[in-house]
Amino acid sequence: MIRTSKHLKKVSQYQPPSRKRSRKVKLDLNENMLGCSPKVLDALKNIDWENISCYPEYDLLIEKTAAHYHVKPEQILFTNGGDDAIRCAIDTYIMESDRVLLPVPTFSMFEIQLKIRGARIRYLPYQPDFSFPFDTYHRSLCKGITMGIIVNPGSPTGKSIKQDQLLSIVEKANTHNIVILLDETYHHFSGKTNMELIKSYSNLIIMQTFSKAFGLAGMRLGFIASQEQNILQMQKVNLPYTVNSLAVIAGLAAIEDYDHINKVISQVNNEREFLYRELTKLGLRPHMTETNFILVDCGNYCNDIFQQLAERGILVRNISSNLRMEHILRISIGTRKEHEILIAALKEIIPSLK
Ligand SMILES: Cc1ncc(COP(=O)(O)O)c(C=O)c1O
Repeated sequence: MIRTSKHLKKVSQYQPPSRKRSRKVKLDLNENMLGCSPKVLDALKNIDWENISCYPEYDLLIEKTAAHYHVKPEQILFTNGGDDAIRCAIDTYIMESDRVLLPVPTFSMFEIQLKIRGARIRYLPYQPDFSFPFDTYHRSLCKGITMGIIVNPGSPTGKSIKQDQLLSIVEKANTHNIVILLDETYHHFSGKTNMELIKSYSNLIIMQTFSKAFGLAGMRLGFIASQEQNILQMQKVNLPYTVNSLAVIAGLAAIEDYDHINKVISQVNNEREFLYRELTKLGLRPHMTETNFILVDCGNYCNDIFQQLAERGILVRNISSNLRMEHILRISIGTRKEHEILIAALKEIIPSLK
């Protein structure tokens, strides 16, 4: 066998769960099932040959995004989705044997990218009620740690860290020169971004994505925000044309249509309440979140319910093998129609299991 890079032996292959999903009820990947802004589709219909034949330009998208978040254009770097933002930050700041704090359970890409770099990961379990492990995290910020990761709101835990706790972490990390990589993938649904903190903290790197509230998951568009000197370093690692021209056009139209985003957020909030009520009525134990998914404790029936939903073409995510997530299915917030299909199926499945 041809030799691979040293650390790959310890990395398991990531199997994207997005296969054979067409015409199914897709409540498994936290996409925006209400869809992107119609203005995105209009903009894409109006492309011409130059958009295809010439290399992409990013200035306008960077300017609009920076203006939207009240930061400078020099503080923004676009990436090929949030996954690529994570890779870019880790590739820039992590060397072999560096120690990194990772609260778990979490989004799998962190562990994969850290292992590829040969980092030593210190796993910090979330609290049993899914709240952020503040005490252990704060205590662990000391000499010898290179990076701390925070996903806010958490995924799959679904809860936000308290604002004073986040500030205290960023501040302590700053005094020890520890990078804080803050993933704000779901921030639209919690209503809070910490983008303004990059002005004060040179150790803070924030990543966001256009995959969720903006509804552009298929376009692969994400970005990093941080102080200029950090962006310059990460630019060295980012491929020069990693975001394609159509994603730029889609991103521009999406960020200009904030009415659509507000509609998406309020619909997600309403539908999450609806699902919470209906799942409770069925005798299941849902956990409320500040994201576009809900967690539901299905007890000993978890695997059976997952399987039987899949047989009916209803896709949810079985996360029960994760720490703290025993018996739990993760259900993305979709449309009322999709939720009615899901609830009708559960009404058939649950009695048949007893
Ligand atoms: C916490 C978290 N971070 C990052 C991502 C990456 O998103 P994308 O690569 O689609 O931008 C996801 C995707 O679901 C996520 O849940």
